[in-house]
Amino acid sequence: MGNQASKVLDKAKDKKKKTQLQQRRRSTITLENRSLGSHVSHGNYDWIDQNELTTLSDGALTAALEAARTPSHHPASNNNSNSSNDTPPSRPPRRKSITEYFTKRRPSTTRPTTLFSDFDFKEFDRWQRQHYLLKSARKANAWAPFYNDGDKDVVILDVGTGNGIWALEMANQYPSVQVLGLDRLLPNDPNGPENLRFCPLDITESWPMSDNAVNFIFQRSMCDTIKQADWRPLLAEMYRVLKPGGYIELIENDFWRHNPGPVQRAFDAFIQEQCKTNGVDFQLTESLEGMIKTCGFEEIDKKTMDIPLGEWPTEQELKQFGFINKEAHKALLKNHKDTYIKQWGLSSADYDLAVQEVLEEFDEYHSFTRFHCWVARKPL
Ligand SMILES: C[S@@+](CC[C@H](N)C(=O)[O-])C[C@H]1O[C@@H](n2cnc3c(N)ncnc32)[C@H](O)[C@@H]1O
Repeated sequence: MGNQASKVLDKAKDKKKKTQLQQRRRSTITLENRSLGSHVSHGNYDWIDQNELTTLSDGALTAALEAARTPSHHPASNNNSNSSNDTPPSRPPRRKSITEYFTKRRPSTTRPTTLFSDFDFKEFDRWQRQHYLLKSARKANAWAPFYNDGDKDVVILDVGTGNGIWALEMANQYPSVQVLGLDRLLPNDPNGPENLRFCPLDITESWPMSDNAVNFIFQRSMCDTIKQADWRPLLAEMYRVLKPGGYIELIENDFWRHNPGPVQRAFDAFIQEQCKTNGVDFQLTESLEGMIKTCGFEEIDKKTMDIPLGEWPTEQELKQFGFINKEAHKALLKNHKDTYIKQWGLSSADYDLAVQEVLEEFDEYHSFTRFHCWVARKPL
């Protein structure tokens, strides 16, 4: 991989010189006129029209964008601009993480905070951005019809809950529903709502709950941690604990970027190698539906959403999604730098150059991430 990477990076350096002389390709995509040059794959943006209730205005994405653009934002720094006091306001210490800000996380009184490293906090932030991105794009936290007004004793699981933001929002949205987040590393949440709990466990082992106990199971962004061999038993465990008629909802993105530039292509080849080494299924998004079916689920409904990387779309909402998706991707590349340079055999400087190139390529090549969502039911 090292040699291949070096070649790509040398090419990237040459290209950088050339592009200063050449004009870059410009976006030709709009929602009205979806014509694209033959060099660019036509992403699927139909999902954007699915629901008129755009959540761009509900503040979720706006808040996340604001946090991304002004990282030191804090309610206490929201000073009254009419104030006659000329003394600059004293800024509170910058929080380590927007996760901490949004979910009002505080150091746990029962667990040592050292459980979370700076890396964890940075990853929490990235997941949080992706959470807002997907919630805004999907116009909802869940698509499965798991709840009807008046339903009693409803239990939902968030498998691999991460920083717990999805579980927290669901618990707030459905106060009569019991929400349980499962993860081996649990968020600190001393002040969460009473209907929200977290359970520490390895999700690839059997779960401490009885058969037919749960109404709805949500799981998102687990493709790079669940090994290929563990998917089937994991789905079987979901099937076991679900009540007949209960739903699963799974969201995963393709490992590879669509419309990649040459440096992104090299990154994707590296990721593919890593998947092979780690026993992870690089093509999971193509094999998952078959596994859902063989585990016995029915009424499988699959939806695909392409979310731009970068601000290349001319359509405003897609442009905003592209901005935040690129920010999340940038964070991914930065957060995993140490691991990647070790495994890929790159120098730190070459890695930084590659990341810079990738970020430029997104806009140049109209790259996008393809997310897939499967909703399926356990038969009655
Ligand atoms: C990429 S994060 C996804 C977080 C969350 N689902 C979201 O969409 O924001 C993956 C999470 O899965 C957890 N995880 C991975 N493998 C696990 C396992 N075998 N058992 C329990 N948790 C696991 C990690 O600790 C991490 O919190």
